[in-house]
Amino acid sequence: MTHHNPLRDPRDRRLPRIAGPCGLVLFGVTGDLSRKKVMPAIYDLANRGLLPPGFSLVGFARRDWADQDFAQIVHDSVKEHARTEFREEVWGQLAEGFRFVSGEFDDDEAFRKLRRTIEELDEVRGTAGNQAFYLAIPPGLFGTVVGQLKEHGLAEPDEESWRRVVVEKPFGHDLESARELNAVLADVFPSGSIFRIDHYLGKETVQNILAMRFANTMFEPLWNSHYVDHVQITMAEDMGIGGRAGYYDGIGAARDVIQNHLLQLMALVAMEEPTSFDPASLRLEKQKVLQSVTLPNRLDLTTARGQYAAGWAGGEKVAGFLEEEGIDPHSTTETYAAVTLHVDSRRWAGVPFYLRTGKRLGRRVTEVAVVFKRAPHLPFMASSTEELTHNALVIRVQPDEGMTIRFGSKVPGTAMEIRDVNMDFAYGGSFTEASPEAYERLILDVLLGDPPLFPRHEEVELSWKILDPILEHWARQDEKRKGGPDPYASGTWGPESADAMLARDGRAWRRP
Ligand code: BG6
Repeated sequence: MTHHNPLRDPRDRRLPRIAGPCGLVLFGVTGDLSRKKVMPAIYDLANRGLLPPGFSLVGFARRDWADQDFAQIVHDSVKEHARTEFREEVWGQLAEGFRFVSGEFDDDEAFRKLRRTIEELDEVRGTAGNQAFYLAIPPGLFGTVVGQLKEHGLAEPDEESWRRVVVEKPFGHDLESARELNAVLADVFPSGSIFRIDHYLGKETVQNILAMRFANTMFEPLWNSHYVDHVQITMAEDMGIGGRAGYYDGIGAARDVIQNHLLQLMALVAMEEPTSFDPASLRLEKQKVLQSVTLPNRLDLTTARGQYAAGWAGGEKVAGFLEEEGIDPHSTTETYAAVTLHVDSRRWAGVPFYLRTGKRLGRRVTEVAVVFKRAPHLPFMASSTEELTHNALVIRVQPDEGMTIRFGSKVPGTAMEIRDVNMDFAYGGSFTEASPEAYERLILDVLLGDPPLFPRHEEVELSWKILDPILEHWARQDEKRKGGPDPYASGTWGPESADAMLARDGRAWRRP
């Protein structure tokens, strides 16, 4: 028997959702984020038929460009980074809606021009007054820009239209600065119009965590401290900091990745079943997890940090972090961080969550591994199960998206010998359609006004509350010159201190 509650789910969510009339204003058009992610995603959405026919894109920057120069920049970015094939007709229609406004962020005349441009687009493209302002700029400039939007009457929609603002991390560098930053945004936009991007939530494999957990029977009964030994969440990158020295030095791996992506992953793995998938219920459950996270007492033994030294990446010799251009040669910024967290709840009592991330590691891989306890009793000769380890369920977030279940199986033959085997689900093998890029999903959701995949300020604050004591502990170690990140060779799996951290608990990191 199936139960259906039409009140809960008025729309059929399988149908493609197409954004209504609207436009997007992009601040920071020359940055990496715009070129590599935002512009290509907009094209891919247009190519998939998910944008309204009159969609407009206004670029705002200091450059002395005409509309055509801006269009050329978008064109190059799309050619290089778009996921879907380039089609002249799609491009042609999209590019008709491109405009460029040149100016400094504090230049009133430029914002007056922006206003006129938007009004003109309403008329000629039918954007109906609906605009998203995407701030692909350093957070230090948010205040100036949203202040200008308010000043020039751009932040406030008229009755039938909407105005939204999209911001990217870092949402501060600690709790206090996150609060200040939020106050700056909240002064101009109501909370429902602020869309904070954590692009991990836009990834298909991340959304699938909830589908896997709550649409099936076989996982949830095991999803608790009776059966789970521990959880490992890994986000490993093989690349270094690239050209991002200015952003990264002084920020480091914990603020860059753990505060947002990894804590969000952890919240999805650890949360209770929401009453429904509406945004409020989802956030409530995620928030409850973040609220109940506690740190172990000895942060010196239960956290680890590292900094990459010279070594190898992709068969090439690479420089260490301190030799990278733009990095202070005495920098104590960590490029690797590992932390131990607990969730104080009946479900998770005594189950550590180990989170780690690093640059210049052996391989690019993000995964969540739920590692189960050993069977309480093994009615075999000890030698039969020597090669049997823990059962595990591994969610492969990227690359090679899918899931693996590891369990013990008898090795064929006359003896009883039991060894680990893997059962695999791969997206490529089960679905013909390629997954959209995270930014396609998230930009579409902004234009649709669909908030569940965007962290709220409360979640951001709670994440900083978790991280701040660790960051303070590391800062104290640096002051006393007692610590500093431990060096690890590029191309390896991080510092020895991280291995020691798990070994103390009688466990070991996976080597994906
Ligand atoms: C960003 C971090 O949020 O995520 C980067 O700032 C990191 O340092 C990037 O490289 C990784 O994203 P993805 O989607 O490639 O895993």
